Amino acid sequence: MTNQENTKEHNKVPKHVAIIMDGNGRWAKARGLPRLAGHRAGTENLRTIIRASAKFGIEVLTLYAFSTENWARPKSEVTGLMHILADVIDRELMELHEEGARLMHVGHLDGLPNNLQKKVRNAIELTKDNKRITIVIAFNYGGRDEIINAIKNMIRDEVKPDNVDEELVNNYMFTKSLPDPDLVIRTSGEQRTSNFLTWQTVYSEWYFPEVYWPDFNEEELRKALKNYADRERRFGGLKEES
Ligand code: IPE
Ligand code: IPE
Ligand code: MG
Repeated sequence: MTNQENTKEHNKVPKHVAIIMDGNGRWAKARGLPRLAGHRAGTENLRTIIRASAKFGIEVLTLYAFSTENWARPKSEVTGLMHILADVIDRELMELHEEGARLMHVGHLDGLPNNLQKKVRNAIELTKDNKRITIVIAFNYGGRDEIINAIKNMIRDEVKPDNVDEELVNNYMFTKSLPDPDLVIRTSGEQRTSNFLTWQTVYSEWYFPEVYWPDFNEEELRKALKNYADRERRFGGLKEES
Protein backbone atom coordinates (compact mmCIF):
# COMPACT_ATOMS: atom_id res chain seq x y z
CA MET A 1 0.00 0.00 0.00
CA THR A 2 1.38 3.44 -0.88
CA ASN A 3 1.46 6.19 1.71
CA GLN A 4 -1.23 8.09 -0.09
CA GLU A 5 -3.58 5.12 -0.09
CA ASN A 6 -2.78 4.60 3.51
CA THR A 7 -3.70 8.18 4.41
CA LYS A 8 -6.82 8.08 2.26
CA GLU A 9 -7.96 4.91 3.91
CA HIS A 10 -7.14 6.22 7.33
CA ASN A 11 -9.13 9.40 6.77
CA LYS A 12 -12.18 7.44 5.82
CA VAL A 13 -12.37 4.88 8.56
CA PRO A 14 -16.05 4.49 9.44
CA LYS A 15 -16.80 5.62 12.95
CA HIS A 16 -19.60 3.10 13.41
CA VAL A 17 -19.61 -0.33 11.74
CA ALA A 18 -22.62 -2.61 12.20
CA ILE A 19 -22.48 -6.30 11.30
CA ILE A 20 -25.28 -8.76 10.58
CA MET A 21 -23.41 -11.92 11.54
CA ASP A 22 -25.09 -14.35 9.15
CA GLY A 23 -24.25 -17.82 7.84
CA ASN A 24 -23.35 -19.80 10.97
CA GLY A 25 -25.84 -22.55 10.11
CA ARG A 26 -24.59 -22.94 6.54
CA TRP A 27 -20.96 -22.88 7.74
CA ALA A 28 -21.76 -25.84 10.00
CA LYS A 29 -23.79 -27.68 7.37
CA ALA A 30 -20.92 -27.45 4.88
CA ARG A 31 -18.81 -29.32 7.45
CA GLY A 32 -21.42 -31.89 8.40
CA LEU A 33 -21.74 -30.32 11.87
CA PRO A 34 -24.84 -29.38 13.88
CA ARG A 35 -26.01 -25.75 13.55
CA LEU A 36 -24.98 -24.93 17.11
CA ALA A 37 -21.37 -25.78 16.22
CA GLY A 38 -21.65 -22.99 13.64
CA HIS A 39 -22.89 -20.58 16.29
CA ARG A 40 -19.99 -21.55 18.55
CA ALA A 41 -17.53 -20.98 15.71
CA GLY A 42 -19.22 -17.63 15.14
CA THR A 43 -18.58 -16.53 18.70
CA GLU A 44 -14.91 -17.58 18.46
CA ASN A 45 -14.72 -15.08 15.64
CA LEU A 46 -16.00 -12.19 17.78
CA ARG A 47 -12.67 -11.91 19.50
CA THR A 48 -10.81 -11.53 16.18
CA ILE A 49 -13.19 -8.94 14.77
CA ILE A 50 -13.45 -6.86 17.95
CA ARG A 51 -9.65 -6.64 18.23
CA ALA A 52 -9.24 -5.87 14.52
CA SER A 53 -11.93 -3.17 14.74
CA ALA A 54 -10.16 -1.45 17.62
CA LYS A 55 -6.87 -1.68 15.72
CA PHE A 56 -8.39 -0.12 12.58
CA GLY A 57 -9.76 2.80 14.62
CA ILE A 58 -13.46 1.94 14.52
CA GLU A 59 -15.15 3.64 17.48
CA VAL A 60 -18.45 1.77 17.60
CA LEU A 61 -19.05 -1.82 16.52
CA THR A 62 -22.62 -3.12 16.58
CA LEU A 63 -23.18 -6.86 16.28
CA TYR A 64 -26.57 -8.35 15.39
CA ALA A 65 -26.68 -11.60 17.34
CA PHE A 66 -30.38 -12.45 17.81
CA SER A 67 -33.41 -10.86 16.15
CA THR A 68 -36.97 -10.61 17.45
CA GLU A 69 -37.82 -13.08 14.64
CA ASN A 70 -35.21 -15.63 15.75
CA TRP A 71 -37.58 -16.83 18.49
CA ALA A 72 -39.33 -18.68 15.66
CA ARG A 73 -36.40 -21.13 15.38
CA PRO A 74 -36.56 -24.59 16.97
CA LYS A 75 -36.51 -24.42 20.76
CA SER A 76 -33.19 -26.28 21.00
CA GLU A 77 -31.47 -23.71 18.79
CA VAL A 78 -32.96 -20.76 20.73
CA THR A 79 -31.87 -22.26 24.06
CA GLY A 80 -28.44 -23.04 22.60
CA LEU A 81 -28.01 -19.42 21.46
CA MET A 82 -28.90 -18.14 24.94
CA HIS A 83 -26.28 -20.45 26.48
CA ILE A 84 -23.69 -19.41 23.93
CA LEU A 85 -24.16 -15.71 24.73
CA ALA A 86 -23.86 -16.42 28.45
CA ASP A 87 -20.65 -18.42 27.81
CA VAL A 88 -19.14 -15.66 25.69
CA ILE A 89 -19.72 -13.11 28.44
CA ASP A 90 -18.14 -15.43 31.02
CA ARG A 91 -15.18 -16.16 28.80
CA GLU A 92 -14.40 -12.76 27.26
CA LEU A 93 -15.66 -10.07 29.64
CA MET A 94 -12.58 -9.50 31.80
CA GLU A 95 -10.21 -9.37 28.85
CA LEU A 96 -12.46 -7.00 26.91
CA HIS A 97 -12.73 -4.81 29.97
CA GLU A 98 -8.95 -4.71 30.39
CA GLU A 99 -8.59 -3.78 26.73
CA GLY A 100 -10.89 -0.78 27.15
CA ALA A 101 -14.08 -2.04 25.50
CA ARG A 102 -17.39 -0.55 26.62
CA LEU A 103 -20.28 -2.98 26.20
CA MET A 104 -23.83 -1.91 25.43
CA HIS A 105 -27.01 -3.73 24.52
CA VAL A 106 -29.85 -2.81 22.16
CA GLY A 107 -33.16 -4.66 22.10
CA HIS A 108 -35.30 -6.01 24.91
CA LEU A 109 -33.49 -7.66 27.80
CA ASP A 110 -36.75 -8.75 29.38
CA GLY A 111 -37.78 -11.95 27.67
CA LEU A 112 -34.27 -13.37 28.09
CA PRO A 113 -33.50 -15.91 30.83
CA ASN A 114 -32.89 -14.18 34.18
CA ASN A 115 -29.28 -15.28 34.55
CA LEU A 116 -28.48 -13.95 31.08
CA GLN A 117 -30.13 -10.60 31.85
CA LYS A 118 -27.98 -10.38 34.96
CA LYS A 119 -24.78 -11.17 33.08
CA VAL A 120 -25.54 -8.56 30.42
CA ARG A 121 -26.40 -5.87 33.01
CA ASN A 122 -23.24 -6.67 34.93
CA ALA A 123 -21.09 -6.44 31.78
CA ILE A 124 -22.62 -3.05 30.88
CA GLU A 125 -22.08 -1.69 34.38
CA LEU A 126 -18.50 -2.98 34.64
CA THR A 127 -17.36 -1.48 31.34
CA LYS A 128 -19.39 1.74 31.24
CA ASP A 129 -16.41 4.10 31.58
CA ASN A 130 -14.19 2.39 29.00
CA LYS A 131 -13.16 4.49 26.03
CA ARG A 132 -11.21 2.46 23.47
CA ILE A 133 -14.14 0.95 21.54
CA THR A 134 -17.88 0.60 22.12
CA ILE A 135 -19.34 -2.84 21.39
CA VAL A 136 -23.11 -2.84 20.98
CA ILE A 137 -24.77 -6.25 21.11
CA ALA A 138 -28.13 -6.38 19.35
CA PHE A 139 -29.81 -9.31 21.06
CA ASN A 140 -33.57 -9.79 21.02
CA TYR A 141 -33.47 -6.74 18.77
CA GLY A 142 -35.85 -5.76 15.96
CA GLY A 143 -35.95 -2.44 14.12
CA ARG A 144 -39.74 -2.32 14.05
CA ASP A 145 -39.91 -3.36 17.68
CA GLU A 146 -37.58 -0.48 18.51
CA ILE A 147 -39.80 2.01 16.65
CA ILE A 148 -42.95 0.68 18.34
CA ASN A 149 -41.21 0.95 21.70
CA ALA A 150 -40.27 4.56 20.91
CA ILE A 151 -43.85 5.47 19.92
CA LYS A 152 -45.23 3.91 23.11
CA ASN A 153 -42.77 5.90 25.22
CA MET A 154 -43.53 9.15 23.39
CA ILE A 155 -47.23 8.63 24.09
CA ARG A 156 -46.49 7.82 27.74
CA ASP A 157 -44.46 11.03 27.97
CA GLU A 158 -47.31 12.99 26.34
CA VAL A 159 -44.99 14.40 23.69
CA LYS A 160 -46.70 17.20 21.71
CA PRO A 161 -47.05 16.37 17.98
CA ASP A 162 -45.38 19.63 16.94
CA ASN A 163 -42.33 18.72 19.01
CA VAL A 164 -41.71 15.50 17.08
CA ASP A 165 -38.63 15.83 14.88
CA GLU A 166 -35.69 13.59 13.95
CA GLU A 167 -33.71 14.54 17.02
CA LEU A 168 -36.57 13.73 19.36
CA VAL A 169 -37.31 10.39 17.69
CA ASN A 170 -33.59 9.57 17.84
CA ASN A 171 -33.65 10.15 21.57
CA TYR A 172 -36.37 7.54 21.97
CA MET A 173 -34.35 4.85 20.17
CA PHE A 174 -32.28 2.20 21.99
CA THR A 175 -29.29 3.70 20.17
CA LYS A 176 -29.89 7.26 21.39
CA SER A 177 -26.34 8.00 22.47
CA LEU A 178 -24.72 6.49 19.36
CA PRO A 179 -23.91 7.84 15.90
CA ASP A 180 -25.74 6.17 12.97
CA PRO A 181 -23.81 3.30 11.35
CA ASP A 182 -21.58 4.47 8.50
CA LEU A 183 -21.11 0.96 7.19
CA VAL A 184 -23.31 -2.13 7.55
CA ILE A 185 -21.79 -5.50 6.68
CA ARG A 186 -23.93 -8.60 6.18
CA THR A 187 -21.94 -11.79 5.74
CA SER A 188 -22.98 -14.97 3.89
CA GLY A 189 -24.15 -13.35 0.64
CA GLU A 190 -27.70 -12.60 1.80
CA GLN A 191 -28.77 -9.09 0.85
CA ARG A 192 -31.52 -7.82 3.11
CA THR A 193 -31.84 -6.00 6.41
CA SER A 194 -33.83 -8.64 8.38
CA ASN A 195 -35.16 -5.92 10.69
CA PHE A 196 -31.78 -4.47 11.64
CA LEU A 197 -31.44 -0.80 12.68
CA THR A 198 -34.36 0.33 10.53
CA TRP A 199 -34.37 3.96 11.69
CA GLN A 200 -30.57 4.35 11.85
CA THR A 201 -29.39 2.93 8.49
CA VAL A 202 -31.18 5.18 5.99
CA TYR A 203 -27.84 6.59 4.79
CA SER A 204 -25.50 3.77 5.77
CA GLU A 205 -23.27 2.19 3.16
CA TRP A 206 -23.95 -1.54 2.78
CA TYR A 207 -21.44 -4.28 2.02
CA PHE A 208 -22.23 -7.95 1.37
CA PRO A 209 -19.23 -10.31 1.47
CA GLU A 210 -19.92 -13.89 0.36
CA VAL A 211 -18.14 -15.54 3.29
CA TYR A 212 -20.06 -17.01 6.21
CA TRP A 213 -19.65 -15.21 9.53
CA PRO A 214 -17.18 -17.72 11.11
CA ASP A 215 -14.87 -17.11 8.11
CA PHE A 216 -15.10 -13.31 8.20
CA ASN A 217 -11.58 -12.56 9.46
CA GLU A 218 -9.34 -9.50 9.84
CA GLU A 219 -8.46 -9.56 6.14
CA GLU A 220 -12.17 -9.60 5.19
CA LEU A 221 -12.77 -6.61 7.49
CA ARG A 222 -9.84 -4.79 5.89
CA LYS A 223 -11.39 -5.39 2.45
CA ALA A 224 -14.73 -4.04 3.69
CA LEU A 225 -13.06 -0.88 5.03
CA LYS A 226 -11.14 -0.38 1.78
CA ASN A 227 -14.37 -0.76 -0.19
CA TYR A 228 -16.04 1.81 2.09
CA ALA A 229 -13.13 4.25 1.78
CA ASP A 230 -13.47 4.20 -2.02
CA ARG A 231 -17.12 5.26 -1.94
CA GLU A 232 -18.50 8.77 -2.13
CA ARG A 233 -21.32 9.50 0.30
CA ARG A 234 -23.74 12.15 -0.88
CA PHE A 235 -26.65 12.01 1.58
CA GLY A 236 -28.98 13.17 -1.18
CA GLY A 237 -26.96 16.32 -1.83
CA LEU A 238 -24.69 17.33 -4.70
CA LYS A 239 -21.47 19.35 -4.71
CA GLU A 240 -21.37 22.58 -6.82
CA GLU A 241 -19.65 21.78 -10.14
CA SER A 242 -16.40 23.70 -10.41
C1 IPE B 1 -26.64 -16.13 12.02
O1 IPE B 1 -26.47 -17.38 11.42
C2 IPE B 1 -26.79 -16.21 13.52
C3 IPE B 1 -28.15 -15.99 14.01
C4 IPE B 1 -29.16 -15.61 13.30
C5 IPE B 1 -28.37 -16.23 15.42
P1 IPE B 1 -27.71 -18.23 10.97
O2 IPE B 1 -28.11 -19.12 12.08
O3 IPE B 1 -28.79 -17.38 10.43
O4 IPE B 1 -27.06 -19.08 9.80
P2 IPE B 1 -27.72 -19.47 8.42
O5 IPE B 1 -28.24 -18.21 7.79
O6 IPE B 1 -28.83 -20.43 8.73
O7 IPE B 1 -26.62 -20.08 7.63
C1 IPE C 1 -30.53 -12.00 10.77
O1 IPE C 1 -30.24 -13.26 10.25
C2 IPE C 1 -30.38 -12.01 12.26
C3 IPE C 1 -29.04 -12.19 12.76
C4 IPE C 1 -27.94 -12.37 12.08
C5 IPE C 1 -28.95 -12.14 14.19
P1 IPE C 1 -31.36 -14.35 9.96
O2 IPE C 1 -30.63 -15.51 9.37
O3 IPE C 1 -32.17 -14.57 11.14
O4 IPE C 1 -32.27 -13.62 8.87
P2 IPE C 1 -33.15 -14.21 7.69
O5 IPE C 1 -34.16 -15.15 8.30
O6 IPE C 1 -32.24 -14.94 6.76
O7 IPE C 1 -33.76 -13.02 7.04
MG1 MG D 1 -29.27 -16.66 8.60
